[in-house]
Amino acid sequence: MILMITGGAGFIGSNLILYWLKKYPEDHIINFDSLTYAGNLSNLSSVEKHPHYHFVNGNLCVPEEISSAFEEHRVEAVIHLAAESHVDRSIAGPGQFIQTNVVGTFNLLEAAKEHWRENLAKHRFHHVSTDEVYGSLGETGFFSETTPYSPNSPYSASKASSDHLVRAYRHTFGLNVTTTNCSNNYGPFQFPEKLLPLLIKNCLEQKPIPVYGDGSNIRDWLYVTDHCSAIDTVFHHGKEGETYNIGGLNEWSNIDIIHFVCRLLDEALGRSGKDSCENLISFVKDRPGHDRRYAIDASKIQKELNWRPSFTFEQGIRETISWYLDHQDWVRLVSSGEYQKYYKQQYGSK
Ligand code: NAD
Ligand code: TYD
Repeated sequence: MILMITGGAGFIGSNLILYWLKKYPEDHIINFDSLTYAGNLSNLSSVEKHPHYHFVNGNLCVPEEISSAFEEHRVEAVIHLAAESHVDRSIAGPGQFIQTNVVGTFNLLEAAKEHWRENLAKHRFHHVSTDEVYGSLGETGFFSETTPYSPNSPYSASKASSDHLVRAYRHTFGLNVTTTNCSNNYGPFQFPEKLLPLLIKNCLEQKPIPVYGDGSNIRDWLYVTDHCSAIDTVFHHGKEGETYNIGGLNEWSNIDIIHFVCRLLDEALGRSGKDSCENLISFVKDRPGHDRRYAIDASKIQKELNWRPSFTFEQGIRETISWYLDHQDWVRLVSSGEYQKYYKQQYGSK
């Protein structure tokens, strides 16, 4: 199979490509990515010479670039991850989120419809989305596949729009689509603008850990490899036209997860007392429109497709911490240049 993975140089995309080439070495992977600040080919250095891996520097906002990749590589299936993915950036500058996440997804669907027109049912188009499309939960309850969409940030609104477009291309044109909506991921190669890698980076550099509001917002955390195995499961066995929620039944308030990771970091770095990472915790102004709680009901994918996460949270966090400790060069590489400007704008310090 010739599989195009969009956004393959980003956090989840690069984990997915490494996972896929190991599990399905006979498949051909076309990594279609425009290498924004979030895309780093060094994530894939271990497979760059793999005979079944091919990188295309292409932009979803330029329809001709998608079309020529489909033609040149005879793409047979798509897993679509490319997106602008950070909520804070969508607040500072929503325009690019509409371009990439909405218009870019539309362009990709159009290319698939055009290039696969002889047999649309034969080619799977899997769309990777987020639980944030469902909005915010109160103290109780979970997001299920039938929870009404209620996005609150420009990021989640743009992802919700892309989900609707994917749905419409199946309903109207018969494209063979599946969609997954996943909770917060963590793991290797995550850009240090997101909470956990930012926390690890700042602890290493003895910089304040910015906690938005009172730190009581809740997220449901899943190790990235478990997200990859869920995408794999739905791509191969998911029912055409269906959506599946993915989550780890692993809810943490931000402040609790920060304390937990600080304790593990103290252990790894031999810090204690006044040097403890916990002393770096610093409460800052809340994010505008900050969603209170996300929690996933993943019973559909569990019951229908027999998928379950295989990492415990402690295992996943320990793996993640040791990966960041072993890859400080990677952190330095991705956080030079543009990142410095972003950090100053977002947190008012260097
Ligand atoms: P990321 O920001 O790390 O990577 C995004 C990738 O897309 C980058 O490589 C970037 O270069 C590429 N890209 C951006 N704009 C592009 C364009 N116009 N054309 C081509 N490539 C472009 O994102 P991520 O965290 O890996 O998320 C991947 C997908 O998973 C996204 O669709 C996101 O909404 C979804 N998701 C993420 C999480 C999470 O916790 N990170 C959770 C659930 C769902
Ligand atoms: P983030 O990693 O940006 O993911 P998302 O907003 O998509 O859930 O943030 C996770 C949680 O951590 C969210 O409630 C916001 C909070 N947060 C902070 O408190 N401080 C920070 O510096 C960041 C980036 C996030």
